[in-house]
Amino acid sequence: MVPSESDHPGDTHGDEARKRGKLALAEGDRFGDCTIVRPLGSGGMGQVYLASAPDGMQYALKLLHPELGHRSDDVKRRFLHEAEFLMTIRHRNLVEVFDAGEDKEIGLCYILMEYMPGGSLGDMIAKNGRLPVDTAISYVSQTADALSVAHKQGVIHRDIKPDNILFTADGVPKLTDLGVAKFFDDAADAKLTMDGHLLGTPAYMAPEQMMDSHHIDARADIYSLGVVLYEMLTGNRPNEGSTVMGLLAKAIKGEPLPDVRTLRPEVSMSVAYVLSLMCAPKPDDRPESPSVVVDLLSRAEVGGLILPDGSDKPQKDAKPSFFSRLFGRGKGAT
Ligand SMILES: Nc1ncnc2c1ncn2[C@@H]1O[C@H](COP(=O)(O)OP(=O)(O)OP(=O)(O)O)[C@@H](O)[C@H]1O
Ligand SMILES: [Mg+2]
Repeated sequence: MVPSESDHPGDTHGDEARKRGKLALAEGDRFGDCTIVRPLGSGGMGQVYLASAPDGMQYALKLLHPELGHRSDDVKRRFLHEAEFLMTIRHRNLVEVFDAGEDKEIGLCYILMEYMPGGSLGDMIAKNGRLPVDTAISYVSQTADALSVAHKQGVIHRDIKPDNILFTADGVPKLTDLGVAKFFDDAADAKLTMDGHLLGTPAYMAPEQMMDSHHIDARADIYSLGVVLYEMLTGNRPNEGSTVMGLLAKAIKGEPLPDVRTLRPEVSMSVAYVLSLMCAPKPDDRPESPSVVVDLLSRAEVGGLILPDGSDKPQKDAKPSFFSRLFGRGKGAT
């Protein structure tokens, strides 16, 4: 499956692309063993194509932005090394990566992955608005399950957002672009803009990631997943309309997210509480792992969580121990 220079002598997709004056592929172009069927779209990291293999299998081929690798061979080397590792991480809710490497002719890094015909969660929210509460919780729990596997292997996603959660034809959500943002972060001098796109998508970023994206841990992904949950429940991002500078100011101040129940009152206090923990401004106040998130959400759904003493809302002044707050004495929650 790896594109090779000898596989198709004379069939130089790189030349074709150059003739068109851009590093883009068109219907019928060859890429290794695959034929390009059509573009699927583009994002901050590159362009994605539907590609078909000789055996009829369909794949999504992502050609990564030239910034990745063009500035530094070291970044490219590490990308290729890490891509090999990512190919070994498998989970029902992770988009499978079949191959990744550098195409020598056009000099771009590529990722060949499972084709997800069901569109993205971003598309779904744009089309239908907010989701049923149980559906939203199910998608977050499945994504957290996948994240748990990645985190245990030492990989932080860094760019969790609705556009990176894709659906199979049967509606199974799968997380994609695992670990890729890290390489753009390393490669780009100006982190925020590349080809007019935002990298790492500030609207979903944990405060500490906005301030220093090099020194984050798994809890930054938990924050982003919480923002995705908020968006699924309300149909809006929590800081809709904020500029990057505005988001940064909130991050520096340590401002919590607005209460989800203001826009969606039927969300139970327990679920709202778990969401507020996921998006706690300080990483120490968040659940320490995605599997804790799954556990908390499943308890919250059946009313099995106990909220902190005397509060009917998430408390602002978080106490040191996450578990003592959750499981201490208090009134039962719905
Ligand atoms: N495996 C896939 N199967 C089907 N469509 C895909 C697949 N991967 C990406 N796409 C689609 O290709 C388009 C571009 O995806 P891409 O990941 O490049 O952008 P993004 O997710 O919007 O932003 P980012 O670059 O930050 O990840 C999107 O419409 C996305 O849904
Ligand atoms: Mg993506």
